[in-house]
Amino acid sequence: MNDVVDFININRDRYVDELKQYLAIPSISALPEHASDIRRAAQWTADALTAAGMHNVRLIETPGNPVVYGDWLNAPGKPTILFYGHYDVQPVDPLNLWTTPPFEADVRDGEIYARGSADDKGQVFMHIKAVEAHMKKAGHLPLNIKFFIEGEEEVGSVHLDEFVRTHKSELAADVVVISDSPMFDRGIPSICYGLRGLTYFQIDLRGSKSDLHSGSFGGAVANPAFVLAQILTQMKDKSGRIRIPGFYDDVRPLSEAERAEWRKLPFNETRYRKDLGAPRLFGETGYSTLERVWARPTFEVNGLLSGFTGEGAKTVLPAVAMAKVSMRLVPDQDPKKIGDLFEAYLNKLAPKTVELKVTRMHGGKPWMTEFDNKYVRAAGRAIEKGFGKAPVFNREGGSIPVVSTFQEELGLPSVLFGVGLPDENAHAPNEKLDLSNFHNGIIASAFLYEEIANLE
Ligand code: BES
Ligand code: ZN
Repeated sequence: MNDVVDFININRDRYVDELKQYLAIPSISALPEHASDIRRAAQWTADALTAAGMHNVRLIETPGNPVVYGDWLNAPGKPTILFYGHYDVQPVDPLNLWTTPPFEADVRDGEIYARGSADDKGQVFMHIKAVEAHMKKAGHLPLNIKFFIEGEEEVGSVHLDEFVRTHKSELAADVVVISDSPMFDRGIPSICYGLRGLTYFQIDLRGSKSDLHSGSFGGAVANPAFVLAQILTQMKDKSGRIRIPGFYDDVRPLSEAERAEWRKLPFNETRYRKDLGAPRLFGETGYSTLERVWARPTFEVNGLLSGFTGEGAKTVLPAVAMAKVSMRLVPDQDPKKIGDLFEAYLNKLAPKTVELKVTRMHGGKPWMTEFDNKYVRAAGRAIEKGFGKAPVFNREGGSIPVVSTFQEELGLPSVLFGVGLPDENAHAPNEKLDLSNFHNGIIASAFLYEEIANLE
């Protein structure tokens, strides 16, 4: 391994230069006008796998964006890793809040700023470089590996469950490895053993066939903006508890043992609040901040649109009002069931004075695993070698829909070893990845293959 680590250290700057090229491709999956960029990013990923020495590299079509596959299976008798990640990224708006353009990666103070740097191109690239280092120095890998990089994660991996179900033998492995999450804190590497799920909706209300003069008609018909606000306020009570009937029925209570473990984590709530720029923190009564984010479900308004929002004043009664809302789910809530409960409640709340249209968008199941297994222990040793520190164990509030599918359809455990940071600005302006975490992550990944290869 010394050779491999030396190689990684010598190539530090080259990795950053190559990553910049990857980050230059605006592979935004949510926006149809970026379809050709999606293909370019898929092809770039494939070329990087080929250059690293992977075999059978190809783009596999799905009804949506292609999946990139590549493997190296010349270690008979050794375990097989299924590495999962995504090459698609989130939209970049509001563009004016970026210090440098989102697709012209810029290095400042040891961090690389670009859309996709942390989520997830940088973390995918880290593993590609780790296999490249093994291949260049040893001519082979210590185990078998299959790369499975998708292009629709940021829009809910809508075609991936079906893909996994119909490609079970191609994806067969012993363990899934994923790097698509932040570490607990700067200098505190972590292994994540739980993710929240999600269900996402658009609500459209119409009160009249077009906007109306608010003097001539105000008072005679319902204002959809106001009705929408009234509906939304019924979703949660003042203590932050969600009021959808049946919503909490399947929520797995947090065990005292888990709560006790989390209380030991070096979490600085004041710094957290200040970093967020929030005047006060707010969440469900009876739970700590980490508990609220990692183990409790939420109902959030993601966006609101109605009426006149330009400069000055306009006396108008809006014809329509729209909200995007989503719920983060925890084990053992099911996105389909929760979606049905939400729709039923919404239909009950909406008055007859407006037309209601509900559109169900994407979703994903929550995931949680027992983390006392040999793969997680192997990852712990590898992380310690890469970062000089043993990882802590955490859950996360975000979602990666396919992780529970890997568990249910392929029966595979997942090891989530992320090297992002809580202040990485994922999905926001000025997304960034710390370059020493990226570099240590390449070393840790290289050790991870070695550690898993040496398991009984
Ligand atoms: N990298 C994130 C998932 C993540 C975020 C894990 C924070 C841990 C902490 C991923 O790219 C993502 O953003 N997922 C979406 C999924 C959704 C579109 C179904 C999410 O969580 O919003
Ligand atoms: Zn994301």
